[in-house]
Amino acid sequence: MKLITYSKQKIFKDDFALVKKVLKSNFLTTGPTVEIFEKKIKNYLNSKYALSCSSGTSALFMAFKAIDLKKNDIVICPIVNFVATTNLLSLFNANIIFVDINEETGALDITKVEKILKKKRIKKVKAIVNMHIGGIPNDIEKFYKLKKKYNFLLIEDSCHAFGSTYNINNRTYKIGSCNHADISTFSFHPLKTITTCEGGVLTTNIKKFYEKSKLFRSHGINRNKNNHYSYDVTQIGLNLRLSDLNSALGITQLQKINYIIKKRNDIAKYYNKKFSKNDNFKTIKIINKNDKSCYHLYRIQIKSKKLKINKLINHLKLNNIISQKHYIPLYEFSFYKKKYGLKSNNYPCSKEYFKKTISIPIHLDCKKKDLEKIYSVLNEKI
Ligand SMILES: Cc1ncc(COP(=O)(O)O)c(C=O)c1O
Repeated sequence: MKLITYSKQKIFKDDFALVKKVLKSNFLTTGPTVEIFEKKIKNYLNSKYALSCSSGTSALFMAFKAIDLKKNDIVICPIVNFVATTNLLSLFNANIIFVDINEETGALDITKVEKILKKKRIKKVKAIVNMHIGGIPNDIEKFYKLKKKYNFLLIEDSCHAFGSTYNINNRTYKIGSCNHADISTFSFHPLKTITTCEGGVLTTNIKKFYEKSKLFRSHGINRNKNNHYSYDVTQIGLNLRLSDLNSALGITQLQKINYIIKKRNDIAKYYNKKFSKNDNFKTIKIINKNDKSCYHLYRIQIKSKKLKINKLINHLKLNNIISQKHYIPLYEFSFYKKKYGLKSNNYPCSKEYFKKTISIPIHLDCKKKDLEKIYSVLNEKI
């Protein structure tokens, strides 16, 4: 029986040639293919700068270094996100304010964020990390207006949203264009829209952030252009680089981006139609009707209180369908409970969302009959 996972990479026949060419070249890393990939990303997203790196986590790391994040700086984050963002913030000893999500979307709730910003006793907020869960743009215009009003830095953890677009005043923008954010970060992990195996990219339109990130990406080393044997270290840095080999895969994957997004949207359309009149489940909707998701994830929510989520996930698994929860809220983790004293009761929407939301398969190897099977198994009496 075919195993149908909630997500899966798609490697195309023509992805091999460029990887092979780079393997045979003089540069496996720090070579020209990295720069070609970055240029193509920049052109695709329409950002001024794009800086490739070893993972989505590295991109976030560069972002926090770029904004000069210091101990005790206040950063607002959603309570539901992959741990990369808050793990890093914890490493920086930032003062993290964990905010509840919107129960319907699973994304950071702007109304709750605004309430916090209005509180007089909260000192200046350095940054907010918005996250476009599943690929659905999360209130970009409203967060941007809030940024202008309260003057914080807006970072988008866009790891789910490569290829998603949003619309403001009848103009369409790519997430990552940074027209309404300071920095955007992406992951090219195999389960994301396109892959470089491991890999990521940071985009920004602000030169200072680009330059700081670039230095941090490579040990803080400033090379002397006239002497290949001489360099200075002007700030601390690490090795967060993406290799030429990974970049080669990224280049040919990017060539297929429109096809990939169309296929994912076709699957979403199938599910949307099926679930539109379903008594057991509802789907997570795109709130702003002109926004478009790359559909990194397809999430559904259980309607009935009687149907328990773990039972459903296990039933799907018995039928070789692997679903997932995105994500376990941070208050569930022992580290976060211990360090930040997080309690589920302070996050009622996240608690409800977590009880009823699963991601079901959406990727290019899902055939029509797989989708039919998924829908039918989901609706079996268990
Ligand atoms: C929302 C989000 N943020 C950050 C990351 C970290 O990306 P990476 O695994 O490439 O380090 C991921 C990866 O799963 C993610 O989904």
